[in-house]
Amino acid sequence: MNAHKISEGIFAIHANITTDDLFEGIWPIPHGVTLNSYLVKGEKSALIDLAKEWEGSIGQFEKQLGSAQSSFESLDYLILNHLEPDHTAFVTEIRKRNPNVEIISTPKGIAMVKKFFKITENLREVKTGDSLDLGGGKVLEFYETPNIHWPETMMCYERTEKVLFSCDAFGSYGKLGERLFDDEFNESEHQFYEKESLRYYSNIVASFSTFVKRALEKLGGLEVKVIAPSHGIVWRKNPAEIIERYARYAGYNTGSPCEKEICIIWGSMYGYTKVGLDAVISGIEEMNIPYTIHRVPNTDSSFVLADAYKASGLVLAMPTYEYKMFPPMAHVLDLFQRKHFINKKVLRIGSWGWVGGAKKEYDQRIDSMKWTSIESVEWQGVPSEDDLALLKQRGKELAGLIM
Ligand code: FEO
Repeated sequence: MNAHKISEGIFAIHANITTDDLFEGIWPIPHGVTLNSYLVKGEKSALIDLAKEWEGSIGQFEKQLGSAQSSFESLDYLILNHLEPDHTAFVTEIRKRNPNVEIISTPKGIAMVKKFFKITENLREVKTGDSLDLGGGKVLEFYETPNIHWPETMMCYERTEKVLFSCDAFGSYGKLGERLFDDEFNESEHQFYEKESLRYYSNIVASFSTFVKRALEKLGGLEVKVIAPSHGIVWRKNPAEIIERYARYAGYNTGSPCEKEICIIWGSMYGYTKVGLDAVISGIEEMNIPYTIHRVPNTDSSFVLADAYKASGLVLAMPTYEYKMFPPMAHVLDLFQRKHFINKKVLRIGSWGWVGGAKKEYDQRIDSMKWTSIESVEWQGVPSEDDLALLKQRGKELAGLIM
């Protein structure tokens, strides 16, 4: 595959990754992921961001650089928007083959270059307002955007062609294959990548939504013709779509309304909790509120997070397990807490066998999450007819709060 030309002198270099490996060592990527870098060529040339050495990505990068009449050896600048290793694995290799390449990043980024790679020479710190003139009409401006995704993160903006190199922001899971630009995908493919971008956001970025909002405000004055993220689609036809999408995502855990839907998450040891859950679901269905449903641990938390993140309402159905919550649900709740899933309307239900205890642990865990809780329902063993009627009523109550 050749480099993709974005505009005169600006190219996307991207590796398509298919792997059984987990993103960040945690999150499954059954549909793969792309790792995007960008080459900007004026009289001098700069490569913006790199990749993780993954499934031959360095080979894919070199081949595409070659197709744009460039190489690791001919670069003048290596710009690192972000030091997470999915964007920095070739730093040492490039420096070895090209000792003159100047590495550019924020002050925190440069400090990390020194620590991560033991490189101390030919480094340049940049801050918001600084720029780099490559000659030939290509000027890169730098904008510090801390905590999207790490504290050292920045974005670059090419002033002439109005391309924003946004690193993790506006990114997505899902490998793209030969295509890269938003206008090359049809509606159903966009729906698929929208799901993957929400999953990426909820897994990777959600903890930093306040910073996303701040960055969107900071960049709001820029005229952006192309958004070029480090993962996923490059937006040249309709960059406003991905900006709007990220603004919506950032709002979900910073006070804006979530979607009028419910995410049901359940676990059951022998089926008694599931019997009770079915009654809750019948109540929700009577109220015509849409819902998604995930069983844990059968469904990986990565997918649960995506649906739960955007939903106004949650149903958490779990039995008591050894005096406490069903452990897979405890894991999910731990992630909700870490990712700042606030302001949900929640119904918790569950059975217990020989002793309860899930409620106590649950109440402690959700204490800091500003959730509105419907009164929970617990029962021993098989739910009675009265239990089932109450569970159905609780489902309707929750749905009523979402409408
Ligand atoms: Fe794609 Fe935070 O690295």
